[in-house]
Amino acid sequence: MPALAELIAVPPLAVSAVATPPHEAVADWLVVPVFDEEFPPVTASLDDKLGGALTRLRESGDLGTGPAETLVLPDVPALAASRLLVVGLGDPARLTRGRLAKAVRTATRIVSAKNDKADVDRVAFVMPATDGGPRAPAEIAETIAAEVAIARVGQGLYQRESKRVAFGTLELLVATADDLSEHVTAGVALGESVNLARGLVNAPADDVYPASYAEVCEAVAADVGLACTVLDERELEAERMGSMLAVARGSDRPPRLVKFEHRGGGDGPTLALVGKGVTFDSGGLSLKPSDGMKDMKCDMGGSAAVVGAMAAIARRKLPVNVVGYIGLVENMVSGNSYKLGDVLQTRQGTTVEVLNTDAEGRLVLADVLDYAVTTGCDAIVDLATLTGACMVALGEDVSGLFANDDDWSSRVQTAADAAGELVWPMPMHDHFAKLLDSDVADCKNVGPRWGGAVTAAKFLEKFVGDTPWVHLDIAGPAFAASSKPHREGGATGALVRTLVELASGYGE
Ligand code: BES
Ligand code: MN
Ligand code: ZN
Repeated sequence: MPALAELIAVPPLAVSAVATPPHEAVADWLVVPVFDEEFPPVTASLDDKLGGALTRLRESGDLGTGPAETLVLPDVPALAASRLLVVGLGDPARLTRGRLAKAVRTATRIVSAKNDKADVDRVAFVMPATDGGPRAPAEIAETIAAEVAIARVGQGLYQRESKRVAFGTLELLVATADDLSEHVTAGVALGESVNLARGLVNAPADDVYPASYAEVCEAVAADVGLACTVLDERELEAERMGSMLAVARGSDRPPRLVKFEHRGGGDGPTLALVGKGVTFDSGGLSLKPSDGMKDMKCDMGGSAAVVGAMAAIARRKLPVNVVGYIGLVENMVSGNSYKLGDVLQTRQGTTVEVLNTDAEGRLVLADVLDYAVTTGCDAIVDLATLTGACMVALGEDVSGLFANDDDWSSRVQTAADAAGELVWPMPMHDHFAKLLDSDVADCKNVGPRWGGAVTAAKFLEKFVGDTPWVHLDIAGPAFAASSKPHREGGATGALVRTLVELASGYGE
């Protein structure tokens, strides 16, 4: 196994759906979700065993049932489990996947926090009663498994002693004999793929550089059963990818392009996922100040989302055709760096005047998008930590959605909504493209100060031809500056869930 793969490897989580009554579940923690309504039979009978403690705590206001509110009861003799955690889900009629995910992660972050007193290995999670609610049991089971798998893993890749316990066993306690095991398995596969994306982003640029990253891609592909091809610098030259190669030139680490293929859909259409993989963005000669550079190991977040999604799609054997392309470069400063005023020859033929070497992501994507389109696909989604301007517009938690096709745009939006991730459509009027006109070349790589997320998208649009295309600017959501109760700081694995949801429905 490549050293980087070993570094980001996560101990496996065994998940099962069992019909054990909650008070009988033998576990280090019993997690009980509650809605802000009368306790359903499963919770009421647990409350009975506890002598009505839950009802009293609720009446006294100590037990909150609002979204992601928690209460820990560490010593409950009536239970087979050592500790009890109650987590609120709010109004059952308003349960979304995003709200459920947040509550599950909040609970999981509490039970997986390193505790000197006892090691945590087994966690039992009561399946919320869903009668008449908007979410199907299968979706709930899958979401719980996925989000538990995600939230039990921290970002302390290099700590001698981790601050989280990545516990090994999760039991979903189901009321009926419904067979949900297929769904918990699918959920864990998704969670592990989100963790793969997180690991790749959390590992710093000295460990994740184009060649080491491409090696991990090959190892992952072999593991999950994906076809994988890696193009090295010479092959990129042979492909005349002048734009991507210019960005790569200033680095001692040569670039790579990785292509994944999942062919589960016979002669149906092919979806292409394209990711920006700038393993470190110093800004190049348009150098970033330290504050803007310190998190720029995250600039391959788009590519990591593609790798995570491709892994999940293969693990789930989805009956669709999906190809993934990631362009891997390091944007550095050296005597060989590309310069302001340089004119680049893209693979497609459009010439680009470079007026800011920190607008490098679009130069990488120009060639990779063109490669994807000319190699053959019926629809594209690209993901990139592309602009600070998108964060100014939408904040840290919402991805910008830019498209050349309304139907494709709404399909991606629908997938994100269903996956519980936040994306919002952005304008793409023609006049933005004019802002990229150049006096010496076909276009410039930057526009004026205002509307920077849109001009970046208009630049990318030049390279996708007539193929329905969506660009997701994930500069905000890919990387969290600090931890919150519902998520670890650092890499988030954002948009993996959305891409898997989109692929599941693709071809229908
Ligand atoms: N990788 C950055 C964008 C970014 C900023 C990602 C903050 C994540 C967090 C991108 O390559 C960049 O530097 N964009 C410039 C574009 C500008 C030079 C037109 C930016 O946003 O300032
Ligand atoms: Mn940049
Ligand atoms: Zn960048």
